[in-house]
Amino acid sequence: MKYVVANWKMNKTISEGIEFVSMLKKENLPDDIVKTIIAPSFISINPIFEIIKNTKISLASQNVFYEEEGPYTGEISPLMLRSAGCEYAIIGHSERRILFNESNEIIFKKYISSKKNLLIPIICFGEKYEEYKKGATISVINDQLELFNNENNIIFAYEPVWSIGTGLIPKMNEIQNVIDYVKNKIKNSVVLYGGSVNLKNIEELAKIEVIDGYLVGGASLDLNNFKEIIIKSSC
Ligand code: PGA
Repeated sequence: MKYVVANWKMNKTISEGIEFVSMLKKENLPDDIVKTIIAPSFISINPIFEIIKNTKISLASQNVFYEEEGPYTGEISPLMLRSAGCEYAIIGHSERRILFNESNEIIFKKYISSKKNLLIPIICFGEKYEEYKKGATISVINDQLELFNNENNIIFAYEPVWSIGTGLIPKMNEIQNVIDYVKNKIKNSVVLYGGSVNLKNIEELAKIEVIDGYLVGGASLDLNNFKEIIIKSSC
């Protein structure tokens, strides 16, 4: 099974999200081969769930808090997300690490709390451009994933920071090396690739056998692009 996750980030109003999934669910998606997951903003999760609940499309949140309830103004717990129809949570996206100071420790707490509450975590990691240039990719990833060393069965997304929204992607063998490294380190892990996945590079990416799917940002905002990416991921 491959995963294709649409990370809409801070895009689409509730009605735009509803319109998108209403059209998407009418498409003949290869859903025995590809698990399609939409990650809209928090407020769109439940309205979108109402549209897709009888389909094989699933929902992810773009973030989650690690406490279960209490005085945490503005935060959302795993249980609340589950109650809204959400099955997955993207955790540790580089935009959260960089713009909202999320540390490896915070990310790990979010992972533990999500798992406990049966929300499936998708853990993001990846190096910055200077680190890539220095050849430090594996050592950065090693630090980012250190807390996960004794875990298994995790869905990860390898997202080089310099690749997000830039149109640049690593060389195919570099992606393959990182994925092999993570799969060796953490048993039974599933590793997606994210960062500028689009219709121009999806066929080449799909040739990397160890890739278990894609986390798609910009190209997931357009229905036709996203649908084609799902179809091409199944080939
Ligand atoms: P992008 O974003 O596809 O627009 O590069 C990917 C992501 O940040 O998850």
